Formats: sequence, structure tokens, C-alpha cells
Amino acid sequence: MPVPGAAVLFAGDLTFMAATRLLRCRSEFATEPDEAIRSATFGASGLIHVAPAMGLGTTPMIGFDPVGVSREFSLSDNEVPALLVAVGYPTEANWPQKPRRPISDVLAFA
Ligand SMILES: Cc1cc2nc3c(=O)[nH]c(=O)nc-3n(C[C@H](O)[C@H](O)[C@H](O)COP(=O)(O)O)c2cc1C
Repeated sequence: MPVPGAAVLFAGDLTFMAATRLLRCRSEFATEPDEAIRSATFGASGLIHVAPAMGLGTTPMIGFDPVGVSREFSLSDNEVPALLVAVGYPTEANWPQKPRRPISDVLAFA
């Protein structure tokens, strides 16, 4: 029987930048918390995009208590919770997708 829903936590690693410096992939423009959030968000984005192909819906959430979530997911001091993504099977009662701005409003080529 399928699981009705789950909450997936994407957390970033505050030590990742130091590790990439060792690999000579140094970034002078990103701070550790910045990099941690960005990396975790890329992970969440993968799940959000692949879920519909499996018949699943997702809801990214950032409105949570980071201390409580870190405790419940047993994060280490080096890990920051970036996004919670609720995953589940959509029902008939789901509200329609909220309006999106047209691509031409949000994408520019430079
Ligand atoms: C970065 C991000 C953070 C969000 N955080 C929350 C949240 O904390 N709580 C919440 O109820 N919805 C949050 N939302 C909105 C829900 O994820 C939203 O209902 C979901 O994206 C479905 O949107 P749709 O109706 O446009 O498809 C967030 C959305 C984004 C993109």
C-alpha cells in the first residue's frame, strides 16, 4: 500500500565550501550559509520536478521552526535546514495552481 504522504527535508552542509576549496573550486562570492541553502535547493528542485512524472504532488515550505526541524531530523551542527517538501498523491479537492507570471516577466537573456 502506498504511503499517503511524506515530508522530505533538504539541508545544506556548512562545511561544503571548505571541501570544494580543497578541490580548487573556490568561490569568492558565496558565504557558507549561502552555499548550503543553494545546494539544498538544487536537491529539492530535482524532487519537485520529477514528482509529477510519478503521479505525486509537492509543496515546498520554508515557514518552519529551524531549531525544532533540525532536532526532529537529527541534523548536526554543520547542517542547516533549507526546505521541507511535502510529497503526496493529489486529490480531487486540490485547489487549482496559483497564477504564474509569464516567462517573459521572469526570464531575460543578457
Ligand atoms: C520557496 C517556497 C517556500 C514556500 N513556503 C511555504 C510555507 O512555508 N508554507 C506554505 O503553506 N506554503 C509555502 N509555499 C507555497 C507552497 O509550496 C505552494 O502552495 C505550492 O508551491 C503549490 O503552489 P501552486 O498552487 O502554485 O502549485 C512555498 C513556496 C515556495 C516556492
